[in-house]
This record gives sequence, C-alpha cells and structure tokens, in this order.
Amino acid sequence: MTENLSTAVDEGVGAGRVAVVSGGSRGLGRVLVERLLADGWRVATFSRSTSEFIAESSAAHPESFYWEAVDLGEPTTARTFVRNVHRAFGRLDLLVNNAGLVREELLFTMPPKAIEAQITANLVAPIMLTQACARLMTRQGGGNIVNISSINAIRGYRGVSVYAAAKAGLDGFTRSLARELGGNGIRVNSVVPGYFDSAMTAEMPAAYRERIERRTPLGRLAAADDIADAVLYLSSPRAEFVTGQSLVIDGGLTC
Ligand SMILES: NC(=O)c1ccc[n+]([C@@H]2O[C@H](COP(=O)([O-])OP(=O)(O)OC[C@H]3O[C@@H](n4cnc5c(N)ncnc54)[C@H](OP(=O)(O)O)[C@@H]3O)[C@@H](O)[C@H]2O)c1
Repeated sequence: MTENLSTAVDEGVGAGRVAVVSGGSRGLGRVLVERLLADGWRVATFSRSTSEFIAESSAAHPESFYWEAVDLGEPTTARTFVRNVHRAFGRLDLLVNNAGLVREELLFTMPPKAIEAQITANLVAPIMLTQACARLMTRQGGGNIVNISSINAIRGYRGVSVYAAAKAGLDGFTRSLARELGGNGIRVNSVVPGYFDSAMTAEMPAAYRERIERRTPLGRLAAADDIADAVLYLSSPRAEFVTGQSLVIDGGLTC
C-alpha cells in the first residue's frame, strides 16, 4: 500500500485514495479539501452548517466529494458519518481531525456548559471519530491520521485555558495512539499551528495581531496553506517513518 501511495503522491495524484477532513466548510479545512481534491483524492467532510464552498464542491465533484451536516457536540454522530463515508467510497486512507472551536473567556466566568462544549468538540469527538476511522484503516491494512492542535497546547495564553487543555489532550492522544497503531500500518501525528488567517482569527484586534507579528521571527501570521503543507507532508510517503510527533508551524513564535 505504501509503495502505491508513494507513486501516486510523486505523480501529484491521490489516485482515488479517500480522506476524511473534519470542518471542511471554511478555513484550514477548506484549503485541505481543495488541495486533496486537486491531487485526485476522494474527500469527505462535515460541518454543522453548509457553505458556498460546500455547494460548489458538491456540484464540481459529484463522484469524489461528500459532505454531511454533523455536530461534534454530539460525538456519536461522527461514527454514523464514518459509516456513510465508507458506504459511499469503500475505503479510508486519511483522517484529518481539523474541526475545532474556541471560546475566549477567563475560566472564572466560563459557564460549565461552555467548558464541556469545548472539551467535547475539540477532544472527545475527535477521539471518537479517530476510533471509528482507525478500525476501518486497520481492516484495510493501514492509514494515516493527522490531528490539528494549537500552540495554545504548548504555551500559556490568558483566556484560552479550556481550549488549551483540549488541544494538549489531543497531542497526548497522538503520541500514545501512534504506539497502539504503528503495528497496524497506521501513522498518527499532530500539526501544531500558530495563528493563521481564518474565521477564528478574523476578530483579532489589530494591536494584538501586530504584537504577534513582531514576536514572530518570520514576521507574519501563517496562511492556511502553510499549515496545509505540513498536514500534506505528514500524510505523504515522504513522512513514512514519522509517527507520534507534533510538528509546530508558527514562524518561530514559540522557539
Ligand atoms: N486559526 C488559527 O489561528 C488557529 C491556530 C491554531 C490552531 N487552530 C486550529 O486549526 C483548526 C482549523 O481552524 P480554522 O481557523 O480553520 O477554523 P474555522 O475557520 O473556524 O473553521 C472551523 C471548521 O470547523 C467546523 N466546526 C466548528 N465547530 C464544529 C462542530 N461543533 N461540529 C462540526 N464542525 C464544526 C466549522 O463549521 P461549522 O461552524 O459550520 O460547524 C468549520 O468548517 C482548528 O482545530 C483550530 O482549533 C487554528
């Protein structure tokens, strides 16, 4: 399998391989969906609501694009989604746990329901989605899992302690799961982005943005493509001996 995939990627073609990308309606998820489709992958994604991009992709790629409305607030629905993807595409080679949400607020004032919602969507649901996908990949003889973490998992920032806890949990999950699944031909890694332009950072005050740029050795925020490059590298045969790792993509902000 690895050899075939290697040839496919060297030719720049996913050659019918199947990827699940959570949260593909916008932001990083959208960029990943676009780039995987362009490389010949069949791609399944979900989000709570649809978007213009989802409608356009469904029309342009009726055979190789699949979208469903799924809310990670109800993690068991992620299993149904995986079953539907398998029914539609017959295999599964890559899972990118990309969907995430952040609520910035000091812990003192955060309602218990908001704490629970962030841990559920950013940690519990990705774990359950991974479990469903890893079972299929194991039966198939291998696969690849990439979890999207955050530099909030490795550095302290005010107002994001709950989000940070979930993302740090995802990195711990990555390492231990890599040990569990290596023998099944499945690699598990995480990408740890710094700030990049998306809906999540659109509301960032200009002064805060300038401070980040000043403190970043490479002098700018990332583009979603910078993060996607790392995801696609880890998903490719060029990383075939890389597992259990967290790859920080932040222009040096945390170095
Ligand atoms: N942007 C940054 O600077 C930054 C930095 C570090 C890490 N990250 C991480 O990178 C990943 C992508 O971030 P982004 O900035 O591209 O985010 P984004 O633009 O806000 O997009 C998030 C995607 O996830 C979906 N989503 C959110 N909550 C969901 C839920 N409960 N159930 C199902 N789908 C859900 C959204 O669609 P719906 O809203 O329609 O559900 C959307 O498709 C996230 O894991 C984020 O934590 C982002």
